[in-house]
Amino acid sequence: KIRQHFSAIKASSSTTFTESQDLKVNTIPTKPIEGQKTGTSGLRKKVKVFMQENYLANWIQALFNSLPPEDYKNALLVLGGDGRYFNKEAAQLIIKIAAGNGVGKVLVGKEGILSTPAVSAIIRKRKAKGGFIMSASHNPGGPDYDWGIKFNYSSGQPAPESITDEIYGNTLSISEIKLADIPDVDLSSVGVSKYGNFSVEIVDPVSDYLDLMEEVFDFSLIKSLVSRSDFRLTFDAMHAVTGAYANPIFVDKLRASPDSICNGVPLEDFGHGHPDPNLTYAKDLVNIMYSDNGPDFGAASDGDGDRNMVLGRQFFVTPSDSVAIIAANAQESIPYFKSGPKGLARSMPTSGALDRVAEKLNLPFFEVPTGWKFFGNLMDAGTLSICGEESFGTGSDHIREKDGIWAVLAWLSIIAYRNKNKKPGEKLVSVSDIVKEHWATYGRNYFSRYDYEECESEGANEMINYLRDLISKSKQGDEYGDYTLQLADDFKYTDPVDGSVVTKQGVRFVFTDGSRIIFRLSGTGSAGATVRIYIEQFEPDVSKHDLDAQVALKPLIDLALTVSKLKDFTGREKPTVIT
Ligand code: G6P
Ligand code: ZN
Repeated sequence: KIRQHFSAIKASSSTTFTESQDLKVNTIPTKPIEGQKTGTSGLRKKVKVFMQENYLANWIQALFNSLPPEDYKNALLVLGGDGRYFNKEAAQLIIKIAAGNGVGKVLVGKEGILSTPAVSAIIRKRKAKGGFIMSASHNPGGPDYDWGIKFNYSSGQPAPESITDEIYGNTLSISEIKLADIPDVDLSSVGVSKYGNFSVEIVDPVSDYLDLMEEVFDFSLIKSLVSRSDFRLTFDAMHAVTGAYANPIFVDKLRASPDSICNGVPLEDFGHGHPDPNLTYAKDLVNIMYSDNGPDFGAASDGDGDRNMVLGRQFFVTPSDSVAIIAANAQESIPYFKSGPKGLARSMPTSGALDRVAEKLNLPFFEVPTGWKFFGNLMDAGTLSICGEESFGTGSDHIREKDGIWAVLAWLSIIAYRNKNKKPGEKLVSVSDIVKEHWATYGRNYFSRYDYEECESEGANEMINYLRDLISKSKQGDEYGDYTLQLADDFKYTDPVDGSVVTKQGVRFVFTDGSRIIFRLSGTGSAGATVRIYIEQFEPDVSKHDLDAQVALKPLIDLALTVSKLKDFTGREKPTVIT
């Protein structure tokens, strides 16, 4: 029987198999720890906090205390992460607590590596009941920086608030941890270890995900572009998890030149970097793309591989435009969408570029709060295919997470489709040609985001309260400089599928010409408060499409700073990041 099981596992030269009969479970007494409430995307703290005695163990046990038994007893769970410092120790602990609580099997990415999109894909493909992702996403890693843990549910989506609230409740009453007495698992070789009724399988982090990408996209179309000598691409993995995916996908499969990948080795501290693909932190990529005679296409992804940034030669594609352009071109360029997308959605602060595509294609359209989890229900209900957020997140219903590599492959598909009949030496349709053509058809939504990172929480909260008070006193027709108010509110969302309601999702001022200024506090920081200001203005006139966004938006940006009294409340003169 063991032999049969063994041969069912994809054989690999490094496949191992070990078995031990007993599974002894120890019950360890513990005490509640304050502050284990999850934010926008899992529990995120400094790694030193997680390394304190029982901090992580308490949260994991609280999670099992929150799940219905049928969701984990004898069930399959997935475990992986972005390769950051502390992941390997954390993986051993999570495996032991899973075993102690009666989980049947844990499937772990080799070396503890799995991108967030890969976890979502594997949960769906292998019909797992859920999965753990060890990542603080785009936050820096290393002994002095951040660590995080997320739990995704059985259709591959981030656990809903009902579950995370329950986990938090259980962290406040926890009294014992069930820890299986098993040895540390060797994460470095693919194979299965069995301990009584519990087993651990170490899998290749790339293969299931790559299979899915090959179903979604036409790889031979992409290859026809990527292997051209007159097309050069650069992918910056930022020393984070997509380093493990970039070579097998872009180089081995699609025949990009090996020097197309930069910062391609995942490192525990991301090479001292801040693995957030934006114009400030993805410096290496930005320098390459803005150099003389730089590549034709550039992209980067974040710590755990769900975010993406796309650039053309000396040209930045703002994420709000990126999702709109993918949606507008998906049907002709991407086989997965050959019958057309079912519906489109964006988060509230994301620009309205996507709305215009939905209108033209006559598709259902949804505006949800910030946070990928809000797209899942719409996808499960079959009314949403392509969605995105201004925060460098783009994806589709192929999984239930945003997906950095997917976004890159989507862009390459669009460029490849536009150039498929181009002979060598003929000028190729470029990224900027595609974007400008899109603006000419739909109009341009100028968009920018100002981030003020690690402000004092008190001042930031006071500012938001001040703005809430202001909107309660505002009315349609109020004059704000040259702008006339259409509406001012704190965004509230009712999920059309399950009727759940979330409130206080961002203070927005919408003006009669469609311009918007929006204020939110980030839900993903780990220290202080990060204030975000989102500024948007629609420009239908093609002769005004070539302005720098900062120039075009200057009056609105000034207005946002005045209206919010940001400087008074936070003491900040300048943002830390401008997108
Ligand atoms: C994570 C989530 C995104 C969300 C983003 C917002 O990346 O997965 O869905 O848009 O955080 O972060 P913020 O810091 O603005 O709360
Ligand atoms: Zn991420």
